[in-house]
Amino acid sequence: MTPAQFIAGLPKAELHMHIEGSIEPALFIALAKRNNVPIAWKTEAELREAYSFRNLQSFLDLYYDGCRVLVHAADFQDVTREYLMRAHADRVLHAELFLGPQGHTARGVALGTVLEGTFAAMDAARREDGITSGLILLAQRHRSEEEALALLDAARPWADRLLGFGLGGAEVGNPPSKFVEFFRRCRERGFKVVAHAGEEGPAAYVREAIELLHVQRIDHGNSSLDDAALLRVLAQRQVPLTVCPLSNLKLKVVASMDVHPLKRLMDAGLCVTVNSDDPSFFGGYVNDNYIACQAALGLSRQALVALARNSFIAAFMPAAQRDAAL
Ligand code: ADE
Ligand code: ZN
Repeated sequence: MTPAQFIAGLPKAELHMHIEGSIEPALFIALAKRNNVPIAWKTEAELREAYSFRNLQSFLDLYYDGCRVLVHAADFQDVTREYLMRAHADRVLHAELFLGPQGHTARGVALGTVLEGTFAAMDAARREDGITSGLILLAQRHRSEEEALALLDAARPWADRLLGFGLGGAEVGNPPSKFVEFFRRCRERGFKVVAHAGEEGPAAYVREAIELLHVQRIDHGNSSLDDAALLRVLAQRQVPLTVCPLSNLKLKVVASMDVHPLKRLMDAGLCVTVNSDDPSFFGGYVNDNYIACQAALGLSRQALVALARNSFIAAFMPAAQRDAAL
């Protein structure tokens, strides 16, 4: 059995992917046509060529602009359903999806339109493929804490259907400490909380996310390796990291896969998981990420099994479902 076959057969959960980052070029062009949204690219090949990034910000500029093709509930439904079908094909049994409503409501798309379309796809995926999923709303960190609090209030009518809240977007210069009150209120209302930290930002941001925001998972967390004391805290408390290897390569967080920190983080005793982040932009879904790491870092079958197990341990899923998967 090849490593790719072994990885394909492993049941797994995916905990770090952005719905807006999973619009495949073909669907992107179809949505632009359907909604009469002018775009700068005519073909899928042209789009794929544009997916070359200097850093996180150069990606975010294209990503936020691309969101213009999402207008109606059916658009959010189509994107989410397509992702969940691909995840199901990768033997993902459970997915926790990120969505950034501010990028849509700021363009005049109602929050209800965004959420109802997304939930419809999540329900269909469960019914048709048996894949379970939860939705985590991200506040954009370049915006103010007041705007994040407004998002939390606006989401009240859907509180029972939402898994949690998180923080995404331009990291450097927008530390977790900017969002202490937002996270306090999210936790007070019973939501799960996560934050992107240590992707381009320093280890100090990871520490802030844990100590000031009290997050239950760190999204990325690569720079934790720069702080031995922080690594010990993460290992001791088993705070999961949702690592995104192909994303890190595409956004030049790492120079090449063979120097990716995934294995060093595992060796330090952390609960590490593998995820796709924005799969249509970064060249692969979750299995592609496992395969790239296995090839570059020489991961053993035991290490691959540990990563897949960690994805269930770190998931916000009912204990009975977790126990059945483990
Ligand atoms: N939003 C979508 N992808 C992201 C990433 N890799 N980092 C921060 N915010 C994001
Ligand atoms: Zn992300």
